[in-house]
Amino acid sequence: MTLNERIAELTAKVEEMKAANQEELEALRIKYLSKKGEISELFNEFRAVSKEEKAALGQPLNRLRQMAEQRMTELKEAVAAVAESAVVRDDLTRTPDPMALGARHPLSLVREQIIDIFSRIGFTVADGPEVEDDKHVFGMLNFAPEHPARDMQDTFFVEKEDGVQKPTDILLRTHTSSVQTRVMTEFAKRLRNGEDGAIRVLCPGRVYRNEAISARAHCFFHQVEGLYIDKNVSFADLRQALLYFAKEMFGEGTDIRLRPSYFPFTEPSAEMDISCDICGGKGCAFCKGTGWVEILGCGMVDPNVLEACGIDSKVYSGYAFGMGVERIANLKYRVKDLRLFSENDVRFLRQFESC
Ligand code: DAH
Repeated sequence: MTLNERIAELTAKVEEMKAANQEELEALRIKYLSKKGEISELFNEFRAVSKEEKAALGQPLNRLRQMAEQRMTELKEAVAAVAESAVVRDDLTRTPDPMALGARHPLSLVREQIIDIFSRIGFTVADGPEVEDDKHVFGMLNFAPEHPARDMQDTFFVEKEDGVQKPTDILLRTHTSSVQTRVMTEFAKRLRNGEDGAIRVLCPGRVYRNEAISARAHCFFHQVEGLYIDKNVSFADLRQALLYFAKEMFGEGTDIRLRPSYFPFTEPSAEMDISCDICGGKGCAFCKGTGWVEILGCGMVDPNVLEACGIDSKVYSGYAFGMGVERIANLKYRVKDLRLFSENDVRFLRQFESC
């Protein structure tokens, strides 16, 4: 067989090379590409041939070696891939690949923290519907019939099924104070059955208002309502509970101040500010130079509300407060744009778990 023929024959063989595992791969390398392999052998013989033959055979011989090397690389990769998939398939004891877990939403974290703080002084959680009626959201909470909060501007009314827009008393609750009326009505029932006791609940949940969406307002947000009803509850009890909350939530050095305010369902009513923790009360851009930032509304439950729920206001009294979860989260995490809370961008959401 001439050198030329042997090059052609080996080229055909190299094209057909196959290896199922590492050992077969090594055997091929030795057979063709090692120092004593068949291709090296051809190169040895090539050195002895005439100039003319060299000119004719040089290229096919080089191509043969390149092809063999390239084919070996391909086979090596294929063998490695098979080996890897075999491990994945067969080893049932192998630790699973780590899963990319999400992070807890900042609003959930803040809500849980509020609940945790108040649960340490005896508060439990109560729930109520988001689609409510006028009576529970406004009427029983002492809102006058013409109160502006009832206006279409603020409240989303729910259309009846026939789709005809007509006055309806079904709406999306505008605050979680609506849960108060349900809890108090249940409590009154228990009292009528001769039971005794008190109410100490938190009502966390989503609320809706007909507002244009911007950095500072949204058509839905979250609140936590607090309600404490017992005999002889005083405004001092309210102040003490809120001072405890502020220190737990924002740090031991936090101070509070209560400013007189108005809510239909509490009398007297107040708004609570906490000392600005950025400037330590000196006044800065964040607290608009006042040294204080507003965080919640509160007050003593109006006797009219107690009576509307069937509780004797001469025997029972109580306090209530309501706070925005987004507001607290903004203060804790300095999130300037409310919309971030509902856009669910994981790059935003992943930042809070360890705060
Ligand atoms: N419901 C009020 C609001 O949405 C917040 C509030 C203020 C709740 C005073 C209360 C309270 O319980 O006593 O703006």
